[in-house]
Amino acid sequence: MAVLEIVRMGHPVLRAPAAPVPASAMRGAAFARLVDDMVETMRAEGGVGLAAPQVGIGWRLFVLEVSGPGPEAIPLRVVVNPELTPEPGEPVEDWEGCLSIPDLRGLVPRHHAVRVRALDRHGAPSEYRVEGFEARIVQHENDHLDGVLFLDRMRDLRSLAFYDEWHRYVLGSAGSRAERPE
Ligand code: NI
Repeated sequence: MAVLEIVRMGHPVLRAPAAPVPASAMRGAAFARLVDDMVETMRAEGGVGLAAPQVGIGWRLFVLEVSGPGPEAIPLRVVVNPELTPEPGEPVEDWEGCLSIPDLRGLVPRHHAVRVRALDRHGAPSEYRVEGFEARIVQHENDHLDGVLFLDRMRDLRSLAFYDEWHRYVLGSAGSRAERPE
């Protein structure tokens, strides 16, 4: 496995809609290697999610994981060609960061819960519901597949902060969520 280079905001791949992963590609060793490398890269960078465009690959694929122990631990998910259906309800604002926008945090509204229809890494269809922090990660990563960055979703850019300042002035009273970038 290998840690891949993460592209940063300004690279056009982050603004291009990604293409569905072809079924033929999913059967190949190169796809399995890409998934493994994305997982290793996410872990190496201390992120909780990573989408294929962030490593320069224009495919509808992302991985997510919140390593434990802790109440927010989320097992590794590999999400291929997802379709999201938000559940009705008021959007929830919370802090986000992004490995492709290093060092920034901002408040982003997201749906509290979404239903996900997707393929797993072996091409098997699955359907599940995610909520809370996992739903936030899923929506953030799915946005990457449409060329959308969390900055685009912010209602008010005045919450934007560099990590050190955010940690110093915001985190003390606001909990530890989204300390790790998506
Ligand atoms: Ni991101």
